Amino acid sequence: MTAQSDHWSQHARQWSLIGPPLRPAAADIRWIETRIRDWQRQGGAVMPRALLCGVTPEIAGMRWPTGTRLVAVDHSRPMIAGVWPAAAAPGIAVCGDWLSLPLADASQQLLVGDGCHSLLVGRDRHAAFTRELRRVAAPGALLLMRHFTRPEAAEPVAAVVDDLWRGRIGNFHVFKWRLAMALHGTPEQGVRLGDIWNAWREAVPDPEVLAAQLGWRTDVIATIDNYRDVDTRYTFPTRAEARGFAAGFDVVAEHLPDYELGERCPTLAMRPR
Ligand SMILES: C[S@@+](CC[C@H](N)C(=O)[O-])C[C@H]1O[C@@H](n2cnc3c(N)ncnc32)[C@H](O)[C@@H]1O
Repeated sequence: MTAQSDHWSQHARQWSLIGPPLRPAAADIRWIETRIRDWQRQGGAVMPRALLCGVTPEIAGMRWPTGTRLVAVDHSRPMIAGVWPAAAAPGIAVCGDWLSLPLADASQQLLVGDGCHSLLVGRDRHAAFTRELRRVAAPGALLLMRHFTRPEAAEPVAAVVDDLWRGRIGNFHVFKWRLAMALHGTPEQGVRLGDIWNAWREAVPDPEVLAAQLGWRTDVIATIDNYRDVDTRYTFPTRAEARGFAAGFDVVAEHLPDYELGERCPTLAMRPR
């Protein structure tokens, strides 16, 4: 098993401990459902063919238009086996790579993803992903993508750690994302998961003490151990960079949720040019 696939196996095992902002909140899902309803009212396809990049259960199980034929594509069999909500989704999940989607040209009327770009580091991979989405998008399609974006000016790591100990951060996942973004390098570098873990351990040598002080669950805190010694990198574009990924699409709407860190989690609605 490669380090990359092992990372997603562990992610699948601890999925129930992962929460917003890493997973979409109800407000994100309602916004996506509304955009799709509006798109259909304005002439979007009846019984659309839909692509979900990943197996995000909140999206798979949302209120899709009647007759939707959904295909979810994810390269991790453990994520498909452990996280895909087969009974709630109007379709199937297949094992495949977003950079080489197992779908025909111009075949998908709806394309949806949650945080996908954060898993693709480097301009070439972002461009290849957008090209694939554009290739499979049918004329008049709707693309909905939530992004995790870093601020234009990075927060100092010390400020994030200070907020953590002072109880100014609402949950562990918000802290994890703020720390990751504070350590982010150039768009080509992103941030190495092992480096996030190292900074975490330096800031919090004894997680039990933090858990007791903040009243946080130790099993949720322990989700960060999945990053230990892992060379995989995540990338957090700025909001402007995220819009720039949409080559071949026009951004037609943007949703900024009001949960903590929501200003860094925009969902973009896009239409192919
Ligand atoms: C949709 S994303 C983001 C999920 C969630 N927001 C989070 O971070 O926990 C996670 C999924 O992407 C999948 N994935 C990452 N890179 C991929 C690629 N190049 N092709 C297909 N699936 C990929 C992983 O296997 C994982 O199931």
